[in-house]
Amino acid sequence: TSNEAERMIQVYELANKFYHHLLLNTKEGQNALNYLLTRGFSEEIIKTFEIGYALNQKEFMTRFLMKKGFSLEFLEKAGLMIQKEDGSYFDRFRDRIIFPIKDHNGKVIAFSGRVMNNGDQPKYLNSPETKIFNKRKILYNFHQARLHIRKKQEVVLFEGFADVISAVKAGILHSVATMGTSLTEEHAKLLSRHAETVIICYDSDSAGVEATFRASKLLSHAGCKVKVAMVPEGYDPDDYIKQFGEEKFRQDVVGASVTLMAFKMQYYRKGKKLQDEADRLKYIEEIIDELSMISNEIEQELYLKQLAEEFSLSKDTLKSQLKERLAAKK
Ligand code: UTP
Ligand code: MN
Ligand code: MN
Ligand code: MN
Ligand code: MN
Repeated sequence: TSNEAERMIQVYELANKFYHHLLLNTKEGQNALNYLLTRGFSEEIIKTFEIGYALNQKEFMTRFLMKKGFSLEFLEKAGLMIQKEDGSYFDRFRDRIIFPIKDHNGKVIAFSGRVMNNGDQPKYLNSPETKIFNKRKILYNFHQARLHIRKKQEVVLFEGFADVISAVKAGILHSVATMGTSLTEEHAKLLSRHAETVIICYDSDSAGVEATFRASKLLSHAGCKVKVAMVPEGYDPDDYIKQFGEEKFRQDVVGASVTLMAFKMQYYRKGKKLQDEADRLKYIEEIIDELSMISNEIEQELYLKQLAEEFSLSKDTLKSQLKERLAAKK
């Protein structure tokens, strides 16, 4: 029932306030707070994102929430507690930094908990999907970014929590993240309803590049104009900001974002020696193939011209190649 959904939001809101308090105001939270400050998160930004800390105790939160009138059964359903076969139970989140995930109205509907020292556990542990938490639909920080997105008709899309938080700290207020999972059609539709342009700013590793290709397809399909902001290899946006500063991130990364086609051209050039004929032919074929997927003819013209000039080919030859490519698809 919707009543159950309301109670679930209540319990998440309550747990969130408590985690946040534990981080900021207790001795037990000191370590976690230091971890965050060392990473460059200011106290102000910690408050803005209501970051918290789950104590290193087995059933601390479960007991607290039971005292507030929530049953074990309900807490299990909400994904805050895990019960074993023998009836014993423990908090899902223990000794982790807690990032609240909010719905588009700003209500807490899930958590993601980060370990402080990477061991054999997963780096981020997430709430399970529940009646109120559907990963396919939620974007991290959408509720805070929404008005900025609308005003600018632009949104910057990241992979992770830390990237969004550092970007917001750097003044990029129209930032959201997919939280590691791939962007869905639902996400793309949501973004297309709020902004003309989506700037993808994923990690520079191969997973990030692959995800950029996948996301760009969905976003273009949903009617968004797609741009790509590239972070130099070896960094993710958060690392970059820490290393080179906020100003450089605004100017040299987000401010220097390129069209999707320009991103692809750079991508296909990588590892090729364009003075070698075989590589050059392969490259031209790849670009023509990409151009065959663009519906905008002006854009097609523009890149054909560019290609013709770069390799001293006639534009007509390239154009007939493109036509062949298009015909083969039908
Ligand atoms: P990354 O592996 O790029 O982590 O995953 P990160 O965001 O850079 O994390 P930090 O900087 O080390 O703290 C990107 C996103 O994928 C999700 C999280 O949302 C993360 O922010 N993820 C990652 C998970 O859900 N579980 C994981 O174990 C790892
Ligand atoms: Mn709140
Ligand atoms: Mn990554
Ligand atoms: Mn990352
Ligand atoms: Mn990171």
